Amino acid sequence: MTSPATRPKTFTVKSFGCQMNVYDGERMAELLGAEGMRAAGAGEDADLVVLNTCHIREKAAEKAYSDIGRLKRDDGTRPMIALAGCVAQAEGAEAQARSKMIDLVVGPQAYHRLPELLADAAAGRRPVDTDMPAISKFGALPARRKSGPSAFLTVQEGCDKFCTYCVVPYTRGAEVSRPFGDIVDEARALADGGAVEITLLGQNVNAWSDGARGLDALIREIAKIGGVERIRYTTSHPMDMSDALIAAHGEIDRLMPYLHLPVQSGSDPILKAMNRSHDVESYVRLIERFRAVRPDIAISGDFIVGFPGETEADFEATLAIVDEVRYAAAYSFKYSPRPGTPAAMMEGQIAGEVMDERLQRLQARLAEHSLAFNRACIGRDTQILIDRKGRQLGQMVGKSPWLQSVHVTSDAKIGEMIDVTLTSAGPNSLGGSLRTVEAA
Ligand code: 5AD
Ligand code: SF4
Repeated sequence: MTSPATRPKTFTVKSFGCQMNVYDGERMAELLGAEGMRAAGAGEDADLVVLNTCHIREKAAEKAYSDIGRLKRDDGTRPMIALAGCVAQAEGAEAQARSKMIDLVVGPQAYHRLPELLADAAAGRRPVDTDMPAISKFGALPARRKSGPSAFLTVQEGCDKFCTYCVVPYTRGAEVSRPFGDIVDEARALADGGAVEITLLGQNVNAWSDGARGLDALIREIAKIGGVERIRYTTSHPMDMSDALIAAHGEIDRLMPYLHLPVQSGSDPILKAMNRSHDVESYVRLIERFRAVRPDIAISGDFIVGFPGETEADFEATLAIVDEVRYAAAYSFKYSPRPGTPAAMMEGQIAGEVMDERLQRLQARLAEHSLAFNRACIGRDTQILIDRKGRQLGQMVGKSPWLQSVHVTSDAKIGEMIDVTLTSAGPNSLGGSLRTVEAA
């Protein structure tokens, strides 16, 4: 099937994987909008489909190709297809050799060039742009305008840590921090556009620095912006955690009591083989320091089971750190060998069934701790930020400061912050009732 050789008028951007991809997806949509294109409505066939892909695990990467196959229409036509994101970066022109339907390939640092690439594709060429230009894409993107109540803002990209299992240092490149002023301007634009909550994003968000200041300074500045009620940040690396950022959690009300701090494993030899540059002891001490300044803080983590060489004893050490930290939330994965990473070549690759069994046991343990955390919140008076309608009539769902979903019967609108008392808890969400707060 040849490329639909006309300039597309409507588009759909589909993002997979992490929140940074969600952010990139929004910015690509804004860019295409500024080019005079329009987002296709629900059920409408778009002229251009941008697949903003994830390469972190094999399953995620394969999803890109199965999705491409599904874009063929019954009448034999298809949209123009742009492969973006980390699969695009990792595979480049190889992706087009694998699927003839890919009209253009654009990496995560090059998508500001989409307009030229689209023109090239419409002319029948099959452009590939996986450059990581020294001048960042951000300056070439249109300014932010409209925003939902909860907005993402990328402040840092890339990773220099080279954990032995991970493709990110290869797909997203070296650690780069955006300038302080640009970020604050973007936060203001988001607030003007309706954002109540801003989540600062980076592969190593707490490595953000402008040479003099760290992430805490950025958070303090954004906390001064009118309308920004809540600030979050993700994902942090234990190695980059500063005293000032920990202290900020005890001082800035708008900084939410939630910390996503991946540990990956609870076994020191495995952490070493992963090149994590922290051990169990230093990680646990770090968590204790957060709890000392913010006792209610919700801790969340990432875990990998079945890293090469992981013994039953190593795995049990992971269960032990889960019990010690008492995670409020967590993401856990089976190890997936990624092309070009050192761990993919290591001896002692673990059988699939062993990984399945360990993942089940880990997830059961994590679920116990989530439930315990949620139950301990019952009786608290707090605020939730309404983000969607509930399934039952008259029910709305919002996020607590601890990032739990809270169901409440209310006529509040999406984007409103409302006062509630938390009244019930399950493993994945809580129930609340409206609370009337007397004006001071
Ligand atoms: N296999 C499984 N999980 C991985 N992650 C990163 N690389 C791999 C891999 N090769 C997980 C880590 C990381 C999260 C984003 O994805 O837990 O923190
Ligand atoms: Fe990957 Fe490790 Fe960098 Fe996180 S810190 S992006 S897991 S290499």
